[in-house]
Amino acid sequence: MPPYLMGLADPWDSLPLSDTPLIPSCFPLPISLLSLLPSNTSELQGGNCSLSPFCYTACEIPEEIGNLLILEILYLADTGLTGRIPASIFNISSLTAIDLHNNSLSGNLPPMAGLQKLGKLVLWGNNLSGNILNSISNASMLMILDVSDNSFSGLIPNTLGNLRHLEWFQIRGNHFITEPATHEWSFLSSLANCKNLRFLYVSLNPLNGILPTYIGNLSTTLQELLASDCELQGNIPLEVANLSNMFLLDLSNNKISGSIPATIGGLRNVQSLTLQTNELQGPIPEKICGLERLYTLSLSFNKLSGPMPACLGNLTSLRNLYLGSNKLSYAIPSTLWSLKDILKIDLSSNYFSGSHPLDIGHLRALMCLNLSKNLLMSDMVSTIGGPETLVSLDLSNNKFHGHIPESFGGLISLEFLDLCNNNLSGVIPKSLEKLSNLKYFNVSYNRLEGEIPTGRCFQNFSYGSFMKNYALCGPSRLLVPPCKSSIHRNSKLTILRVLRYGLPSIATIVVTIIFTIIYRKRQSRSITLPVKEDLLSLKTWRRISYAELSQATDGFGECNFLGSGSFGSVYKGRLSDGMNVAIKVFNLQIEGAFRSFDTECEAMRNIVHRNLVKVITCCSNVDFKALVLDFMPNGSLEKWLHSEHYFLDILQRINIMIDVASALEYLHAGQPTPIIHCDLKPSNILLDEDMVAHLGDFGIAKLLEEDDFMRQTMTLATIGYMAPDATLLRREDEYFIIKANCISSIMELALKCSAELPEDRNNMADVVAMLKKIKHKFLISIEQV
Ligand SMILES: *[C@@H]1O[C@H](CO)[C@@H](O)[C@H](O)[C@H]1NC(C)=O
Ligand SMILES: *[C@@H]1O[C@H](CO)[C@@H](O)[C@H](O)[C@H]1NC(C)=O
Ligand SMILES: *[C@@H]1O[C@H](CO)[C@@H](O)[C@H](O)[C@H]1NC(C)=O
Ligand SMILES: *[C@@H]1O[C@H](CO)[C@@H](O)[C@H](O)[C@H]1NC(C)=O
Ligand SMILES: *[C@@H]1O[C@H](CO)[C@@H](O)[C@H](O)[C@H]1NC(C)=O
Ligand SMILES: *[C@@H]1O[C@H](CO)[C@@H](O)[C@H](O)[C@H]1NC(C)=O
Ligand SMILES: *[C@@H]1O[C@H](CO)[C@@H](O)[C@H](O)[C@H]1NC(C)=O
Repeated sequence: MPPYLMGLADPWDSLPLSDTPLIPSCFPLPISLLSLLPSNTSELQGGNCSLSPFCYTACEIPEEIGNLLILEILYLADTGLTGRIPASIFNISSLTAIDLHNNSLSGNLPPMAGLQKLGKLVLWGNNLSGNILNSISNASMLMILDVSDNSFSGLIPNTLGNLRHLEWFQIRGNHFITEPATHEWSFLSSLANCKNLRFLYVSLNPLNGILPTYIGNLSTTLQELLASDCELQGNIPLEVANLSNMFLLDLSNNKISGSIPATIGGLRNVQSLTLQTNELQGPIPEKICGLERLYTLSLSFNKLSGPMPACLGNLTSLRNLYLGSNKLSYAIPSTLWSLKDILKIDLSSNYFSGSHPLDIGHLRALMCLNLSKNLLMSDMVSTIGGPETLVSLDLSNNKFHGHIPESFGGLISLEFLDLCNNNLSGVIPKSLEKLSNLKYFNVSYNRLEGEIPTGRCFQNFSYGSFMKNYALCGPSRLLVPPCKSSIHRNSKLTILRVLRYGLPSIATIVVTIIFTIIYRKRQSRSITLPVKEDLLSLKTWRRISYAELSQATDGFGECNFLGSGSFGSVYKGRLSDGMNVAIKVFNLQIEGAFRSFDTECEAMRNIVHRNLVKVITCCSNVDFKALVLDFMPNGSLEKWLHSEHYFLDILQRINIMIDVASALEYLHAGQPTPIIHCDLKPSNILLDEDMVAHLGDFGIAKLLEEDDFMRQTMTLATIGYMAPDATLLRREDEYFIIKANCISSIMELALKCSAELPEDRNNMADVVAMLKKIKHKFLISIEQV
């Protein structure tokens, strides 16, 4: 409850109680004794009649109650009353308050001829039916009229305007309708005469119809207008903004169309604006940022489009922001993350995109963050540092990449964490075991690898939390292979980087980096790796016949031909189960092709990494040898760098560099036997549908033995060339300076990698880290513009 909503006056308190003592004094009063009361009773309260031994017949209000000629207050709420309201009650002209709420009273409302003093009529929670009669306007002192949650039907009287003192009008949960002739809420015209009206609650009636422009004629004393679930149609009239003292407007769950009027900014005292589940279109008007006291904004489940206004970040009073299930697009404005007291944010199911870091570290009170089902592609690592208050975090169904940050282990209140369906890689940090409140966890459909934590809450998670990843290992109940315990080894990798150029042009940086191979003595270290042989050894690889491959490629037909490599041709194929694959057929006429096939099978047998092309299986006969690989729909980097019709922006290039460097880091140091690719060039770097780079073609790769580490590997290096690519950066480009800075950082790194002395070159893990840093800086700089 927002603190300033709690200050609301309780309408029940607003009427004076009479000074006359309660007669009789025994309480609760059995209803069946009402008829015996002395006629000078002025105040009457009843207890639960069904608990009374006197209640041997139905608990009805006796007709004789009309004899209490000076009765002022009748309070028989919540007493199990049945039957009708006797007409005689409405004859007691001294009554100031009638409260019969929460009973089982039925029938129609009797005419109200003689209730000139009645200030409060509260009948909610009964089974009363029929019209509210026009005669209600005879009770001209009424301040509070509440007939909610009954079965009243028909039109809302057009005589309410006579109730000059009316403050509280509540009819929610009935069957009221709108006058078919006008199709407008014409009762508002009459209510406009009630100059003290503060609360108008009409939700949950099949009113239908539209809001008329004269809604703006309602008194500016109005504080709350609740009209949800009313089948309301048409637009929100501009004039609604005349109600400048309103602090709660709820028009949710209707069929309102059109756009949100810019005049909405006139509701400058509004604290809760809920328009969710309608058919609103168009942009969210900037004027909404004028609502300086806004606490809850809910526009979910509409058809709103365009960007989220950056100025929302100025609404420091905002605590709940619900914009889910719309068609909002562009980046999430970084200003949002400056709302440091916000509690709940739901932006799910929109088209938000961009790779800016999610800077939630400053949101000290955040409890729920739902960004699921968008197109966000931030690096999780740059994202993090979240508040300890976070209870629910849903980032599922996006394109987030990078590692799950260790720092998630600090989100100690977290109960719900959904990261499924992203591009996350690396391991599940063991620090997550500290999340003792975690009840739901899902990292399915990512590219995670390594050991699944087993401590605490992880004991309760099942297969469904981890499925469809690259190479997770752990307990067998999770249907993953067991983990090998730490592998200790002490190997040093020796690779010589031979490519060395003069100062390459800016356009060649990408190539420079991906040609960089590292020579560096590595520290011994222990790593934990999943046992992948079980999954991927030739024995358990999917068995596939020549006939099936032939069928998949239309007999290795021309239209399936993708290109030729050093030892044969590559075809696109579609296996019988619908899977798209690339099939690399070795030409056994070429000298060395046999060895190449064997080398590649051997190399690929034990390695799995998100940035390596995955081998699905090998097909080997006496006279036919082929590798079946994951199909990479975006083709080779070569195509993207050197064809006229393809273009990669700087961010994409940095991402590709990081991918390739990560693949090399893994090959050199991330698995038991160091592997040197030996044929690193753009044509061997393939791009999947998300433009993630995968290193392929291991035909001439070298597997280094422990004692190879000092060997000169000059002959293993690749000679490449650097083609000019003049379109990368132009002075008139957006963010020219930032891009130029970024490129020069990469240049610097590239030159370091090409240092004369091997010892002076960076190790691959450092290169990956530095590239990530450069990328992070680039993104931050762009965002700050
Ligand atoms: C209401 O009061 C009038 C006049 O005192 C009387 O004639 C009438 O019968 C009463 N009606 C009921 C329903 O008691
Ligand atoms: C009560 O209301 C009805 C209908 O509006 C009207 O005809 C009647 O004159 C009113 N009676 C009194 C006493 O005001
Ligand atoms: C609304 O108020 C305006 C100005 O006071 C008046 O002219 C108009 O008749 C009112 N509309 C309705 C439907 O009451
Ligand atoms: C009510 O709103 C309309 C439309 O925004 C505006 O023209 C009119 O001046 C407003 N009336 C008052 C009394 O503020
Ligand atoms: C936020 O408020 C400040 C100060 O009132 C203003 O200068 C700035 O333009 C506002 N920001 C946006 C995005 O509207
Ligand atoms: C695992 O689930 C059981 C049963 O739902 C529950 O009692 C237990 O506390 C849970 N353990 C953890 C560590 O969450
Ligand atoms: C995790 O997400 C996937 C993909 O949405 C879903 O199929 C799976 O059922 C989820 N797992 C759990 C435990 O809910």
